[in-house]
Amino acid sequence: VRAGASAFLCLVAAAVVADAREVTITLPEVPAVLRASPMPGYAIAERECTICHSPDYINFQPPGMDQAQWTGEANKMHAAFGAPITDDDIKLIGAYLAVTYGSAKLTDPGIVPLATAASGASQGAQGGGEGSGSGSAAGAGPSVQALLANHACLGCHAVDHKVVGPSFNDVAARFRSHPGAVHELSARIRSGGTGTWGTVPMPPMQDLTQAQADSLAQYVLAAPGGAGK
Ligand code: HEC
Ligand code: HEC
Repeated sequence: VRAGASAFLCLVAAAVVADAREVTITLPEVPAVLRASPMPGYAIAERECTICHSPDYINFQPPGMDQAQWTGEANKMHAAFGAPITDDDIKLIGAYLAVTYGSAKLTDPGIVPLATAASGASQGAQGGGEGSGSGSAAGAGPSVQALLANHACLGCHAVDHKVVGPSFNDVAARFRSHPGAVHELSARIRSGGTGTWGTVPMPPMQDLTQAQADSLAQYVLAAPGGAGK
């Protein structure tokens, strides 16, 4: 009887050792990182979005999320969980994630002002001194979208190709180097006119306040084509 019992124990012990071996198989190490991008939101996300959890929380989101969804995600991290990021950070991170992981394109009007590092800072600098009380320059993002929509700008303009009027890339490339380009363009947006790009006139937009026209001019000047030729 004793011999039989210890043989049984040996079998059990062998089984335990075999189990232990299986569990100790080492998995290949794949360090989780965010996808690189030249957009300013990338550096902020690397810094701020990996404080509490792995970047894989972002990497494994379903593809095809748009700018509003990614911006909402970043905002949720701030509002619900206390991620230490500003409203501007949230917009920049949302744009970066939407382009890099989601359905947004660098040329989307909502992305363009958030795609270059300078836009946030220069808006602050150039928007000062207007005193029209239409809100801070930092908040220009959403209001620019509303202005573009309310004035049918995108019926005649696109960022990257000519429609009725010139592409915003071409306008930015032409005016960017001018000193005072923001005020020059905002004056042209309000007055309308013809002859610079062809014979078709741009209608005057005189219901725009100076500050609104400046925001639109800054938006146009931030088009990516302005950085190139
Ligand atoms: C202060 C801590 C904190 C920071 C910083 C943080 N997160 Fe989160 N995040 C969380 C928590 C908590 C969850 C929910 C985890 C869970 O439900 O298991 C989460 C979950 C997520 C998810 C999974 C989907 C979801 O909504 O639950 C995504 C995507 C995500 N975070 C993205 C981000 C991004 C982008 C940033 C940078 C803007 C960020 N996180 C920064 C705490 C944080
Ligand atoms: C009905 C069509 C139309 C609408 C609507 C329109 N534009 Fe234009 N825009 C044009 C045309 C055409 C030109 C070229 C004018 C020229 O050749 O001088 C132009 C030129 C411009 C320029 C370049 C100015 C210059 O002198 O070179 C800017 C900037 C611009 N538009 C911005 C806007 C913005 C912002 C809006 C909305 C607030 C807008 N446009 C609405 C047709 C339009």
